[in-house]
Amino acid sequence: MSKNTENNLHLQVKDLTIGFRTRQGEAEAVRRISFQLRQGEILGFVGESGSGKSVTCKSIIGLLPENVTLSGDILFHGKNLLACTEKEMEKYRGRHISMVFQEPMGSLDPSFRIEQLLQEVIMVHDPCSREEARRRSLDMLKKVDIADPVNCLKRYPFELSGGMQQRIMIAMALLCRPEILLADEPTTALDVITQGQILDLLRRLNDELGTSVILISHDMGIVAQTADRVAVMYCGQIVETADVQDLINHPMHPYTEGLLASLPERQTGGEELRTIPGTVPSIYNIPSGCTFHNRCPYARSVCAAEAPPMLMHDGREVLCWRHHERYQNG
Ligand SMILES: Nc1ncnc2c1ncn2[C@@H]1O[C@H](COP(=O)(O)OP(=O)(O)OP(=O)(O)O)[C@@H](O)[C@H]1O
Ligand SMILES: [Mg+2]
Repeated sequence: MSKNTENNLHLQVKDLTIGFRTRQGEAEAVRRISFQLRQGEILGFVGESGSGKSVTCKSIIGLLPENVTLSGDILFHGKNLLACTEKEMEKYRGRHISMVFQEPMGSLDPSFRIEQLLQEVIMVHDPCSREEARRRSLDMLKKVDIADPVNCLKRYPFELSGGMQQRIMIAMALLCRPEILLADEPTTALDVITQGQILDLLRRLNDELGTSVILISHDMGIVAQTADRVAVMYCGQIVETADVQDLINHPMHPYTEGLLASLPERQTGGEELRTIPGTVPSIYNIPSGCTFHNRCPYARSVCAAEAPPMLMHDGREVLCWRHHERYQNG
């Protein structure tokens, strides 16, 4: 099936580095990451706060602030998005690549009714008559499971529940049928039941519309239940990439192991919730060698001294000396 064919790439990111110039000096939030988004798949990005998930997502859609420095390639149908001018990016944003943000209320203008918000998206990218825009809006609201779409069009964002607002955000993002949807923590502000419904919705829309999705979450449980493939981020690097089942059943990177072990459902009861000791290092003070070595239960002297190269093994990628030595030595 198309999800797994290598030649069906939607997005190819190569050696992406994202730096910031700040008062504290220059720092790299993302360092030389490479990944691919295949047609129709849901690629999950998981990692603790500050690991670089959001800035990676924003770099794809050109939404980073002025103090950023970028290098590498973000290829969309062969076009390097990093080399695009703001004017060129406007053509891609919303039309080909859309983004859903964590906080719907911050992104939905409270002074407009839902009908106006949806209409504006259509008019910017795909001008048509008011009637046609209304028909398309109603159609999309049905797709995101809004029970009474006609009534919903008349509402202001603040009149809707958090779950409904997030559905509106997803509807707005998908109105112009983009090929790629970037969903950055789309369910963090929601209760567990609504969260499950939104994740189900994302999966269903991915299936029905064939939209490729990058789903970002700091919660391994969310990514594991929704994504086809997962990239684990730590301290500005991708430390492991694998199909979701392989990752869950056989995590290779010690950080992935730690994230999985700290899932509530993996606790054996009675004991305290297991967590990974320590915190993600500051981007102004990145550890030498493997950036995870000071939190890693398996760390040896080589880990602090030298950065491991990426190991490609059996369709998986892992950035860890332990596995590198294991597979090199047979
Ligand atoms: N505009 C900016 N200027 C300077 N540093 C920034 C800027 N935006 C982000 N950063 C830094 O880049 C790093 C990665 O941030 P990012 O928002 O991508 O993390 P994240 O993985 O999305 O975390 P979270 O789970 O908290 O959303 C952080 O150290 C952050 O402080
Ligand atoms: Mg983030």
